[in-house]
Amino acid sequence: MNTAKSLKIALIIGSLRKDSVNRKFAEYMVSQMPEYVNVVECRIDDLPHFNEDIDTDTPPDSYTRIREQVKDADALLIVSPEYNRSIPGGLKNALDVLSRPYNNSVLTGRKTAFVTASPSSYGGRSCGFDLRKTMLPFQAPVLMAPEIYLSNAYDALDEQGNFTSERTQKYLKKFVDALIEFAKS
Ligand SMILES: Cc1cc2nc3c(=O)[nH]c(=O)nc-3n(C[C@H](O)[C@H](O)[C@H](O)COP(=O)(O)O)c2cc1C
Repeated sequence: MNTAKSLKIALIIGSLRKDSVNRKFAEYMVSQMPEYVNVVECRIDDLPHFNEDIDTDTPPDSYTRIREQVKDADALLIVSPEYNRSIPGGLKNALDVLSRPYNNSVLTGRKTAFVTASPSSYGGRSCGFDLRKTMLPFQAPVLMAPEIYLSNAYDALDEQGNFTSERTQKYLKKFVDALIEFAKS
């Protein structure tokens, strides 16, 4: 249980593109968090493809950075699109990086929560399921409810990126509230 006054959430956005709807949803979620929550975004675009040959005693700086960012987080939040019914490659690569060193991964026991969004009617659900599966080796407590797979994601925002869907905002706020309680527990 975190009895300190502050809470740290490590955030990974699974899309690398600048106009990502998932990024917009993540930014909205962050805006709904209480002031005592410190959100650290972990970039994933500069992580070399995971390769055990370069993950030596002196790994790439970006590997060390993301592992440090996640290490002391009260929870890890992943907001992601689905690519080809699964986890986008850049995000999967980041999880592979975080999964090592073997037996000393920062994912072990890490509280984790997922949101997926897509313009289709499934809302990236397959990616959400695969993300849950990916956490299994780490005995990581996963926030099970509310489950958020945001479908028709483009319809929730206008061209300027402002919300046009109060329903989506309400879901995201509900998720944030559950996430904060989960991270504190
Ligand atoms: C390589 C690729 C594969 C995709 N596969 C899926 C898919 O399996 N299911 C789906 O709902 N959307 C799929 N999409 C569409 C994405 O959901 C859509 O591009 C979305 O906007 C990506 O999220 P972002 O806006 O956060 O980048 C795919 C897009 C790309 C580029």
